[in-house]
Amino acid sequence: AAIVEHSFHVKNLTVRRLCTEQVVTAVNGSLPGPTLRVHEGDTLKVHVFNKSPYNMTLHWHGVFQLLSAWADGPDMVTQCPIQPGGKYTYQFKILKQEGTLWWHAHVSWLRATVYGALIIRPRSGHPYPFPKPDKEVPILFGEWWNANVVDVENQALASGAAPNISDAFTINGLPGDLYPCSQNRIFTLKVQKGKTYLLRIINAALNNELFFKIANHNMTVVAVDAGYTVPYVTGVVVIGTGQTVDVLLAADQEVGSYYMAANAYASAAGTLFDNTTTRGIVVYEGAPSSATPIMPLMPAFNDTPTAHKFFTNITGLAGGPHWVPVPRQIDEHMFVTVGLGLSICPTCSNGTQVSASMNNFSFVSPTTLSMLQAFFFNVSGIYTPDFPDTPPIKFDYTNASINTLNPSLLITPKSTSVKVLKYNSTVEMVLQNTAILGVENHPMHLHGFNFHVLAQGFGNYDPVKDPKKFNLVNPQSLNTIGVPVGGWAVIRFIANNPGVWFMHCHLDVHLPWGLATAFVVENGPTEDSTLPPPPADLPQC
Ligand code: C2O
Repeated sequence: AAIVEHSFHVKNLTVRRLCTEQVVTAVNGSLPGPTLRVHEGDTLKVHVFNKSPYNMTLHWHGVFQLLSAWADGPDMVTQCPIQPGGKYTYQFKILKQEGTLWWHAHVSWLRATVYGALIIRPRSGHPYPFPKPDKEVPILFGEWWNANVVDVENQALASGAAPNISDAFTINGLPGDLYPCSQNRIFTLKVQKGKTYLLRIINAALNNELFFKIANHNMTVVAVDAGYTVPYVTGVVVIGTGQTVDVLLAADQEVGSYYMAANAYASAAGTLFDNTTTRGIVVYEGAPSSATPIMPLMPAFNDTPTAHKFFTNITGLAGGPHWVPVPRQIDEHMFVTVGLGLSICPTCSNGTQVSASMNNFSFVSPTTLSMLQAFFFNVSGIYTPDFPDTPPIKFDYTNASINTLNPSLLITPKSTSVKVLKYNSTVEMVLQNTAILGVENHPMHLHGFNFHVLAQGFGNYDPVKDPKKFNLVNPQSLNTIGVPVGGWAVIRFIANNPGVWFMHCHLDVHLPWGLATAFVVENGPTEDSTLPPPPADLPQC
């Protein structure tokens, strides 16, 4: 195993997108940032120099961070931010997982432009569990605002309303030719007839789940969230923000040009979203340059049946590399609501602001010390271990007309509540979407672990009938699950890594509203189950 070392200089970058020039925060002068390539077993060492005007942290989305919680990165959860002018080295081993993950800023909305791919190949001598592709290509979806994203977020938080939607989606940083002034800002993938391409697809958009298609071509899904799957052939990929999907693309069609395109899966009418389409081009070698590429027919923004089919038809590659069997004995049963509501806001125009919660707790970050430091140094008053296992009030979760009448559901108190777990305990969580104030699919992300997705469905979860649908044999293993609009999902994981692990909605608009909680996993009995002390350069508040 090797040590892979990189320096990340985070600084202002002037870029031209759509019809204007803008100064954004970026890593090493590129947008998206650098692609990191490692093998399973390697140690990754990234020296981050913050030359930007903002507080910065980086998160390695999906990495297990075994005994290295200090490198996980969410602002005020595992570290105080790296202040302008400061630096911090993120150092961690990549173990027991391979496939596509990614890295991104984990403070305010800076991940809009501070993100990149993290590709984990098998150790040498370990093949992929699918035919070796001729070439590998990262495909990163992003979202672009003509305004400064930190201003967009701050204005929204100050007014209590939802932020402005983005001005474009992007593929590998480029909006594509359906947007103004973007005729030549389009990602092009050159292919040769007869070859196979492994597309490592990452949804780095802030606030949108996406549909992705390539005209006239099917794709074969072979991994999701760095967990191998049974090969699944599909014409459309559906990908929540935070998720990754690896597909094999066979260049087996007539020599020519074909558009690839992505548009929003907004799950519910009435939600604020960007209804535009980004596209790139797949060009076969030898294709006439004059030909107009063929455009795929995209699903409608609210095509939940297509999304649900994709999300539920994929199964994990049981027995494949790094496969972990589903735990059968459960120590902690949790039933957790996820949804939107209101919180009290004395400075807002109508006294309340849009808020979000899990089990009626709306999360706020601490300000003086990170939660992980509080855990390690036993400092009280930073978080409270009172996150409930079940909602404080039982109600009809998906019946909006009843729920909005109940102010104790609608108005959610703010707190920094966590659930404390014993080392190695097994957790089952029913995630129940609520229709209190609007309803949509929430891509819920758990730091530090992959979980098995046992089942998902619509309406209220039924504790008698629905467990009969559990897949305990070969479920998908994910780090981010789209909890269906007006529905539920059941996940299981083993808390085998001490530290503080954030769990939150990966729609960035919902995160500052409080759609988050954290697990505090206690140390185990031995040295290999105890969190080591923080690195000497851990930023201080
Ligand atoms: Cu990709 Cu907590 O995030």
